Amino acid sequence: MSFDVVVIGLGYVGLPLAHTASQAGLTVAGLDLNLDVVEGLNAGISHVDDLSNDDVATMISQGFLATSDSSIIAQADVAVICVPTPLSPDAGPDLGAVIGATSAVAKHLHPGILVVLESTTYPGTTEEVVQPILEESGLKAGVDFELAFSPERIDPGNAVWGMRNTPKVVGGITPEATEKAAKFYGRFVDTVVRAKGTREAELAKLLENTYRHVNIALMNELVEFSNLLDVDLWDAINCASTKPFGFQAFYPGPGVGGHCIPIDPNYLSHHVKTVLGRPFRFVELAQEINAGMPSYVRSRIQEALNDQSKSLRGSTILLLGVTYKPDIADQRESPVRPLARELIVDGANVEYFDPFVAQWNIDSDHGLEDSDRLLDCVHDLDTAIARADIVVLLQPHKSFDLEAIAAKSKVLFDTRGALDGPNVIRL
Ligand SMILES: NC(=O)c1ccc[n+]([C@@H]2O[C@H](COP(=O)([O-])OP(=O)(O)OC[C@H]3O[C@@H](n4cnc5c(N)ncnc54)[C@H](O)[C@@H]3O)[C@@H](O)[C@H]2O)c1
Repeated sequence: MSFDVVVIGLGYVGLPLAHTASQAGLTVAGLDLNLDVVEGLNAGISHVDDLSNDDVATMISQGFLATSDSSIIAQADVAVICVPTPLSPDAGPDLGAVIGATSAVAKHLHPGILVVLESTTYPGTTEEVVQPILEESGLKAGVDFELAFSPERIDPGNAVWGMRNTPKVVGGITPEATEKAAKFYGRFVDTVVRAKGTREAELAKLLENTYRHVNIALMNELVEFSNLLDVDLWDAINCASTKPFGFQAFYPGPGVGGHCIPIDPNYLSHHVKTVLGRPFRFVELAQEINAGMPSYVRSRIQEALNDQSKSLRGSTILLLGVTYKPDIADQRESPVRPLARELIVDGANVEYFDPFVAQWNIDSDHGLEDSDRLLDCVHDLDTAIARADIVVLLQPHKSFDLEAIAAKSKVLFDTRGALDGPNVIRL
């Protein structure tokens, strides 16, 4: 049996890629180290927000096969690597999964295969880390096989922009590799954009996320000043957004979360520091400001309670929405975790409501008692609102009836600028 493509790493990025390719008629295999993921998928169960069990069942009916056996690579024309790129303990790049996946590809490399790295990483990874491992096989990149980088732009929960209609950037180690990769993605993506090489494609991804990180930090710094100056920043942003050119709206919030914004810019700043010995000041400043937002939100909650002659200690605080973005279950790097920890350490009685999270682990590494760190979602929202001294809107999931929630709350602290009203305090 042969496959058009084997997708290595079947998570938030790899599985939608496998699904889109499969829908376009390609024969697709998936390789993952996690046996639960493999068994679940082969049983028709999806573990990512953007795909339903029906989507997985359809993929299977179209020939999709998940496996943990890397020898499947030997049967594929293309291998796409979509494994995680987290941070190391010193906040630098941890390429362990990329190296592991690449070693598996090297073991089963065959002439004519196209290898594409999709994992977000610093410029130079494809040529300096991936290529030498692949060439340990004895085959030569650009001669016996082709190698390219193509950044993933998936936006979990985005119903408008998906894999097919979001332009795909590809950059190969040679023009021939770029063409081969462009041809491959052109089979299931509407628009393919050719980068000059792998480094430009790698930097393009980090640029996109660093741009967001820095602009969100600008708004987060400004929101504190606007509050002190008694200006509604949300209204100012809405007014500025009416300019048809030269302005793009970014919004303040309780901090940044997810796998990309809090992590990817580190890959860039760490690389700049390691190679050039210089700090990437914009990135470092943005990190400092965004990481400080949970504490700032805590101080504003304290202020709001103070205005009611209450203290944080002993108050009941209901957190609404604990995921890192609306309408998905993903909690990775959610800034609501450090906020909850600070409130609990200050003696508040923290409750939460999130239709996507039945039980919430706010972390084991911070000295909290088990009873404090594992919280259950409140069963009845109305009763919880009535019980709460303050309700804090952190993630405006579409299913929330915000007006009704605000009307029932004693005080609602809105970190998203979604509400207005006599008992609403905006970040
Ligand atoms: N999640 C997003 O929204 C998003 C968006 C754009 C880019 N990215 C990037 O895409 C990459 C993948 O992220 P993700 O969110 O899909 O991660 P994920 O954690 O959801 O999934 C990764 C999968 O890879 C598997 N894996 C790990 N090491 C492996 C190996 N050696 N061999 C085979 N499988 C292995 C894991 O078991 C897991 O199932 C990262 O570099 C990330 O930065 C993510």
